[in-house]
Amino acid sequence: MAILKIKTYPDSVLRSFAKPVNGVDRDVRKLIDDMAETMYEAPGIGLAANQVGELKRVIVIDIQREGESTGLIALVNPEIVERKGSIAIEEGCLSVPDYYSEVKRAEEVRVRGLDLNGKQIEIDAKGLLAVVFQHEIDHLNGKLFIDRLNPIKREIFKRNWKKKKKKKG
Ligand code: NI
Repeated sequence: MAILKIKTYPDSVLRSFAKPVNGVDRDVRKLIDDMAETMYEAPGIGLAANQVGELKRVIVIDIQREGESTGLIALVNPEIVERKGSIAIEEGCLSVPDYYSEVKRAEEVRVRGLDLNGKQIEIDAKGLLAVVFQHEIDHLNGKLFIDRLNPIKREIFKRNWKKKKKKKG
């Protein structure tokens, strides 16, 4: 296993569409292992392959919250096949350090994808887990949570980001 480097905004790999995976082979399982280790080390509660520079449709999630822990979920070619309700939770992202904001999303989702053995599975998620699934699948489509902010909040984010960059030199 290896800890991978996490790409940060505005890296273009975060804006790219990740390609579907053709079968879960050794390489994909190694990527999943490395992504899981990277996520736990960060620490974070979810990671998509784009964030480590791999344009493959692979996500790992472990919400690791008291009373809510899921254990490790790794899903290949994940897609949302059903969504219900509405919820807004404060989100952050390992690729957008030090910024948090509420984002409106579906409260419940059914997600379909392939597990580590290449078997198709479906997961019903609600609350935080549903939000993390939506956030990570967004990554695979080149989308970041800051894209879902209202225009004023997004403008403020961009301005502060530029200021921070200037300060760092
Ligand atoms: Ni993220």
